[in-house]
Amino acid sequence: MSKAPKHFLDINELPLSELKSMLAASSAMKAKQKAHQPVKPLEGKTLAMIFERPSTRTRVSFDVAMRQLGGEPIMLTGAEMQLGRGETIADTARVLSRYVDAIMIRILNHDALLELAANATVPVINGLTRRSHPCQVMADLMTYEEHRGPIEGKTVAWTGDDNNVLASWAHAAERFKFNLNVATPPELAPKKAMRDWVKATGASIMLGTDAEAAVRDADCVVTDTWVSMGDKEGEHRHNVLKPYQVNAKLMSFAKPDALFMHCLPAHRGEEVTDEVIDGPQSVVFDEAENRLHAQKGILAWCFDAVK
Ligand code: CP
Ligand code: NVA
Repeated sequence: MSKAPKHFLDINELPLSELKSMLAASSAMKAKQKAHQPVKPLEGKTLAMIFERPSTRTRVSFDVAMRQLGGEPIMLTGAEMQLGRGETIADTARVLSRYVDAIMIRILNHDALLELAANATVPVINGLTRRSHPCQVMADLMTYEEHRGPIEGKTVAWTGDDNNVLASWAHAAERFKFNLNVATPPELAPKKAMRDWVKATGASIMLGTDAEAAVRDADCVVTDTWVSMGDKEGEHRHNVLKPYQVNAKLMSFAKPDALFMHCLPAHRGEEVTDEVIDGPQSVVFDEAENRLHAQKGILAWCFDAVK
């Protein structure tokens, strides 16, 4: 029987040792690329990229990562495929597995991602669902550690909406053993499934509603858009999320050398002010760059090419 494909679906599903080896491979390939000595472990491999929703970073970084590693990307949108006309996700998985060596998908419905993975005989990578965004947080971990060393034992604060990026930060906190302080408006608090998961795992994650309390003495402050793809009630969200904006006053409660992170795209003047996102503590464009390098570690792991 052939070996089960190595899917990259969520950070909390993989052992810490494998996650660390992906990050180490990402850093090594980044250094080689910067030294103009690119490595090409994916020669002859093809990645299908399916986007049901828009993307700048995920799309371009996976595309460039495949090319730099010697492989070929194929860009597809759900609307252009028979998926858009009702072909099942399971049949799509079976067909694509006969052509390509891996599939990366951005699709809001997390169960559809799981169905794709269950029916594919090649690795499937989660390029964002409504529930999680693990590739983003791998790049964020890489960025934190480049600037500040190991994240274990540090404190990351999240203030704003409860969303897919927060879920992946929570998964990372549990695996990498750092503290995560979360502040959301009560009506946008993490759902029961997340609260139960936090309890069950014993992860050092505090779920609260006070932004200043969450940020106090943090090593890193993170936020994201107030209205994620697929969200409704934008105006209501803007009203209740105002107190969670990351501005200079809120940053002043964190450690003086705290980093500011945001996965981008940012909505300046909403979840973050210009003075913070353009300020000296912000590493948002390093995070964006590291999407490219982190994808390489993820791809190499999926293809069993991590050295
Ligand atoms: N951060 C992120 O995933 O950006 P895109 O939506 O542009 O891919
Ligand atoms: N939470 C955002 C992330 C975008 C990269 C969204 O889902 O729209």
